[in-house]
Amino acid sequence: MIPREIIDEIVFRNDIETVIGSYVTLKRAGSNYQAPCPFHSERTPSFTVFTATKSFYCFGCGAGGDVISFIMRAENLDYVDALKWLADKAGISIPEDNSYEEKTGVSRKRVLELNLAAAQFFRSCLFDPKIGAEAMAYLRDNRQLDMATIKHFGLGYSPNDFVALTNRMRDLGFTDEELEAAFLAKRSQKSGRLFDLYRNRVIFPIIDTSGNVIAFGGRVMDSSEPKYLNTSDTPAFKKSRQLFALNYAKKHCAERMILCEGYMDVIALHAAGFENAVATLGTAITPDQARVFAKYTKKVIICYDSDKAGQTAANKAIRLLGEVGVDVKILKLNGAKDPDEYIKKFGADSFRSCIDESRSAFEFRMNKILGEHDISIADEKIKASYEICTIIADVTNNVERDIYIQYASKLLEVPVDSVRNDVGRIRNKKLREQKNKQSKDAMLSIKNINDRVNPDSARFVAANDSEESILAMMMIFDEYRDAVVKGEIDLTADDFVTAFGRKVFETLCMLERSENGYSRAMLGQYFNLDEISRLEKIEVERRRLTRNDREVFDSCIASLKEQKQQSVPAEGQDLLSIMRQKRNAQQKKD
Ligand code: UTP
Ligand code: MN
Repeated sequence: MIPREIIDEIVFRNDIETVIGSYVTLKRAGSNYQAPCPFHSERTPSFTVFTATKSFYCFGCGAGGDVISFIMRAENLDYVDALKWLADKAGISIPEDNSYEEKTGVSRKRVLELNLAAAQFFRSCLFDPKIGAEAMAYLRDNRQLDMATIKHFGLGYSPNDFVALTNRMRDLGFTDEELEAAFLAKRSQKSGRLFDLYRNRVIFPIIDTSGNVIAFGGRVMDSSEPKYLNTSDTPAFKKSRQLFALNYAKKHCAERMILCEGYMDVIALHAAGFENAVATLGTAITPDQARVFAKYTKKVIICYDSDKAGQTAANKAIRLLGEVGVDVKILKLNGAKDPDEYIKKFGADSFRSCIDESRSAFEFRMNKILGEHDISIADEKIKASYEICTIIADVTNNVERDIYIQYASKLLEVPVDSVRNDVGRIRNKKLREQKNKQSKDAMLSIKNINDRVNPDSARFVAANDSEESILAMMMIFDEYRDAVVKGEIDLTADDFVTAFGRKVFETLCMLERSENGYSRAMLGQYFNLDEISRLEKIEVERRRLTRNDREVFDSCIASLKEQKQQSVPAEGQDLLSIMRQKRNAQQKKD
């Protein structure tokens, strides 16, 4: 868990107006700011940033919270990763996560030291003609790598021996536990002895953006299996967050990056001058990796193998990168299965022109639909046209939409105007449906009936109102929290009627009692984004009211206690009685 002082420091150093201002254009409105909501589409701005409380709330969609929850939403991160993201921005360092270390007893630092020593050992083996001649010949002749490239990537060779690395690393003072934790050696079940995992393979060290050797990939030199052996997760390595060659690519990637499938593709691309190429580490792209791309670049050109697996992986990459707002293009190589082969066959210049012509994710999807229908048959052509128009209809930008309409007209051999009409019709229908759904959702939420955050609120409308007032005042005013915790005010968790209200109350009291005290920024550890938004909402509503004195607080407690008495569940609460209750509550309010 990240310490309270650091969380507060991170929030303090990341001014909420500045952070949010880099996502939407904020307009001053009194002492606050307003903007169109970044989380739902709207015309009149209902998204507000409150400077005094350093929080935001959208009166349209109900998203709300502090700068941490904003980044959780905007960057699609969990609480801890959002804190890390903000810390990174403000140049604050967060103490390392030690969970792996606790499991294995081996520290990240030791694994990194061991990896570095192992990389040096593998490299010396490759360059030793008595040990590495065959491997060197494989890299230079079969794979056509020059010496500069081999050195640049720190390639190596693991000898055909069960203890070569283990013995050398022991001599250097590394322990068996460290070798096992680093995934470099394993203990034999039969003999109980440690043996090297990488044997007779060419070695590709994986280096992070700080220059640490964090893992290895090892390839056989013949057709035996498995073709590649990769480091599993270790105290120093989480496969799903890393990209091969990002240590070099990060300096060349502001405009665009190339994502390919294999280590060899990346190496061949860098050698040919495309130093913005990276690869995932033997797995399909993960959401974490998509966020890494978003951090470094605006546009990713996906260059996967032309086989079926490669195309499926490309679809996943389009989706994940799209979700983090990265522009995606698909590169289709003709006459070669992957970039490595392509460059060897046709040269770097030819590859460069492919990149410049690479198709957008949209065009890729359209072509895919076309591939599934034979448009020389009228029926099929109509189906393909409908599917293509449906995806074009989702494009919000008018200019962009028109470009696709023209492209589709050529693809389908249909007049532009007819495509434009079809898209327009589908688009209007979608917009209507969306509007209907929005107003339906709004109605449901007014009725509290579809309240996922606090499902009890529909049954206990009056109690919920009192709870919200009490909790809001406790969040806003330190003195109420203090008095409740000290027992000066007679209010306990048992007085609460809804499970959500009770949880909020308990969390507020727990934080207030804790050594470091309550801080709003810590709520993200205990509540999800929808719950955080609800808390922001009840705070905003409370702050709009002028009377927040002790008398009001006490009367809310009194009415909650009264409601509690009546809340003892009557058998079989049906919708009718819920409606009746709500009507009563409404009348009381009015
Ligand atoms: P490929 O089979 O396309 O290999 O796997 P490649 O990189 O093009 O290698 P060459 O050209 O045959 O030497 C693509 C990536 O999938 C992972 C590796 O990261 C590889 O680079 N992979 C593949 C594995 O992790 N294990 C395997 O057994 C095979
Ligand atoms: Mn290959």
